[in-house]
Amino acid sequence: MYQIAIMGFGTIGSGVFELVRENKEVLKRHAGDDVNVKYVLDIRQFPGQPVQEVLTNDVNDILNDPEVSVVVETMGGINPAFKFVSGALAAGKSVATSNKELVAAKGTELLALAREHNVSFLFEASVGGGIPLLRPIMNALTADRLESVTGILNGTTNYILTRMDEAGVDFADALAEAQAKGYAERNPSADVDGHDAKRKLAIIMSIISGHFVDAEAIPTVGVSGITAADIAAAKEAGYDIKLLARGELTDGQVYARVSPYMVPPENPLNPVRGVFNSILIHGNMVDDVMFYGRGAGKEATASAVVGDVVDELKNPGKTIYPGWSAEPAAFVPLGDEQCAFFVRVNAMDVEEACKILPAVKCVGLADDECGILTEVMKESALEEAAEKMKFISVIRVL
Ligand code: HSE
Repeated sequence: MYQIAIMGFGTIGSGVFELVRENKEVLKRHAGDDVNVKYVLDIRQFPGQPVQEVLTNDVNDILNDPEVSVVVETMGGINPAFKFVSGALAAGKSVATSNKELVAAKGTELLALAREHNVSFLFEASVGGGIPLLRPIMNALTADRLESVTGILNGTTNYILTRMDEAGVDFADALAEAQAKGYAERNPSADVDGHDAKRKLAIIMSIISGHFVDAEAIPTVGVSGITAADIAAAKEAGYDIKLLARGELTDGQVYARVSPYMVPPENPLNPVRGVFNSILIHGNMVDDVMFYGRGAGKEATASAVVGDVVDELKNPGKTIYPGWSAEPAAFVPLGDEQCAFFVRVNAMDVEEACKILPAVKCVGLADDECGILTEVMKESALEEAAEKMKFISVIRVL
């Protein structure tokens, strides 16, 4: 029988605990033996619940038990997760985590520690929740030069933008609705300001580039500045607004950005609505590959975590994924990036705006406004134009 431990009995940790019991037979078939949760680490008590029997508040119970070969980390945050995960890897135990903050900030170090001790540090659940994404990149798309990823990587913001579009409500009302449904935290900043998506993008781009991509170096704009008028204008022009995480790898240089984008109807990401996530990957041989599913939630995320656990149980004494180099990735210089833009201006300013913007077309909007769709242009050129004239709003176009 395989013995595993779970650190943190929150939403995901309890999901892992329940999945191991519920899917006992399927896990046995894939792992080759029964999988048992020997310990759950949490400082809280859960009287009357099955978890109470295996509960401990001392991490050393797990670290010092030679029977435990795989540890699940579902505590979230950096501290004390980093210390506990480091301890587990150093003790020769593989670790599976759903903690994107930990992977984005400390993944390079933890992957090196796993290599050093011939164990694995896996984190499928940290990006796209239940969607199998990292393993396909690491194991299936290995014959391709992966050139770009474009993803809806945050369910909360996709839900907010969907509700703004469907119900015509403004950002504050859509956020309140997301909070009432339990999608958004009481402090929603990590989601609505794009930090969650940028961490996930950094993890993907670290894998694709083979170099550490620092999440903090990724230019990030969230959705709190998107107004009901922006959504209506986008609709008028035939687009939907999505918060996208975009990464490209060209000549060894990484381009990465998290920002609201206007997505045309023919793009496969356009119909992705509500809390769902989706990622489009482009390889030089395979062309476009798309992944879609639940990017959050107890059961879906637990599914990805336990998938990693099974992989680790099947590969004892082996580092399944060696990881990326600690040497930071080179970024495309800011301002050299190119993009098309949708610029809202007052109707009386259109002529002037078209002198300083490479306009492709103009769309008449409500309230005596116009939307100017530009050619693909340098980000720096847009900034120069914005210094010459006040635009109502500017949104990138995919
Ligand atoms: N807050 C995240 C989201 C959860 O809304 O997608 C999964 O990382």
